[in-house]
Amino acid sequence: MNKFTVRDIDFNGARALVRVDFNVPIKNGKITDDTRIRATLPTIKNLLESRARVILMSHLGKAKGSPDPQFSLKPAAERLGELLPGVTVKFAPDCIGDEVKKMVDSLNAGEILLLENLRFHKGEEGNDPEFAKKLAAWGDIYVNDAFGTAHRAHASTEGVTKFLSPAIAGFLMEKEIAIIGKALSNPERPFYALIGGAKVSSKIEVLENLLKIVDKLIIGGGMAFTFLKAQGVAVGKSLVEDDKLEVAKEILKKAKELKKEIVLPTDAVIAAEMKEESPEKIVDINSIPADMAGYDIGPKSIEHFMSVLKDAKTIIWNGPMGVFEVNKFAKGTFDVAKLLAGMKATTIVGGGDSVAAVEKAGVADKMTHVSTGGGASLEFMEGKILPGVAALTERSSCGSCSCSGSCH
Ligand code: 3PG
Repeated sequence: MNKFTVRDIDFNGARALVRVDFNVPIKNGKITDDTRIRATLPTIKNLLESRARVILMSHLGKAKGSPDPQFSLKPAAERLGELLPGVTVKFAPDCIGDEVKKMVDSLNAGEILLLENLRFHKGEEGNDPEFAKKLAAWGDIYVNDAFGTAHRAHASTEGVTKFLSPAIAGFLMEKEIAIIGKALSNPERPFYALIGGAKVSSKIEVLENLLKIVDKLIIGGGMAFTFLKAQGVAVGKSLVEDDKLEVAKEILKKAKELKKEIVLPTDAVIAAEMKEESPEKIVDINSIPADMAGYDIGPKSIEHFMSVLKDAKTIIWNGPMGVFEVNKFAKGTFDVAKLLAGMKATTIVGGGDSVAAVEKAGVADKMTHVSTGGGASLEFMEGKILPGVAALTERSSCGSCSCSGSCH
C-alpha cells in the first residue's frame, strides 16, 4: 500500500486522532461480539508505546444525526479498558464541543479518550466540512484504522483529511488492504471465489468484477437458483429474482467468452417452507418439485466444490451457501467453512454473514484472513475505490510539505 502507516511516525506526545470502527453489536448494554475492538489493539498499543495521546472516534448503529442513548459508545470504552489493563481509557460525552476540548487538552501521553458516537451529528454522514474541521482540531496526526467504514465518504473518514495531515493508515487498515488487495491484483493462482447469499442483485458487481480476476467462480446460496433458472433448470419455489435472469445469463455468457468455469450446486436441501419444523430432503438439482424450495446446498455440491477447490492457492469466500440461521439448512455453509479451514491455500473471508458463519463453525482462526468489513470488503471486491483509503496521504507526498514524508 502506497500510504503512510503508523509504522512511519514517531508520535512522542503528539495527539493521534484515530478513526476506528467500533460499530459492534450491543444487547442490553453489553457487547456481544468485540472482534472489531480487538482488531484495533495492535494500532492502539503501537500508539501508546510511541507515547501518543490517543483520541479515538467511531460511529455505532444507525443513529440519525442526534443523540440516541441506545447507540452510545460507552460500552465500547469500558470494553477497551478491560482489554488494555493499566491504561487510562476516558470517555467523552460528545465528539465536538467545549467539554471535549477540555478532555483532549488534559489528556496525557499514553492515555486514551474515546469520543461519543459521531453519528449523533448530521455533519458526520453529510461529510460537512465545518464538522470535519472541528474533529480535525483534536489531533496533530490523523490515523484511519476503520477498514469497516472505509467505503463511506464521511466527515471522520474523508472530510477530516482536508484539515489534518498527514493522514495515515493503522495496522488493521493496512492488513485488510494488503491481503484482500493482493488477492484482487496479484493473486497466487489458481484463484477461486466462492460467492453466496440470498440475492444476485446485491452481488452483481462483485460477480462481474471477480469473474475478470478469478480462475473459477463457485456460486451457492439462494442466488444460485437465479443462475440455475437462467440455464433452464426447474427450481420449484426456490428464491429466484426473475428481473435478474438476464443479468445471470450475461454473466454466464461472459464466463464462456473468458473460458472460465462457473460452478453451480448439483443438489439441494429442499423443504416446503423455510422453517425448522418443515420436513426436508436432499434432491438432485434437476429434481426440485414445483411446490418445494431449495434452502441449502446438498452433500454432492459440497463434494463437487471440494474437488474444484482442491488445487487452489487463493480462495475468497463471500456469502453463505444456504439459510444458515435455520439449523437444518446450515450444514452446507458450515461444511464449506470447515473445508476452507483445512486448506493450505490463502483463505480470505469477507462480508458479514460468511464471517458470522466461520465464527459459528468455530474455524475463524483457521482462515488466513477474516475481514472486519462487511460493506467495505464487498465494495473492495467490486473493484471500487474506498474513499477512506483514497484520502490517506500517499508516500510520494506527505500532504503538509514536499518532503516525501521525511519530515514526519
Ligand atoms: C459496517 O458495520 O458495515 C460498518 O461499520 C459501516 O456501517 P454503516 O453501514 O452503518 O455505514
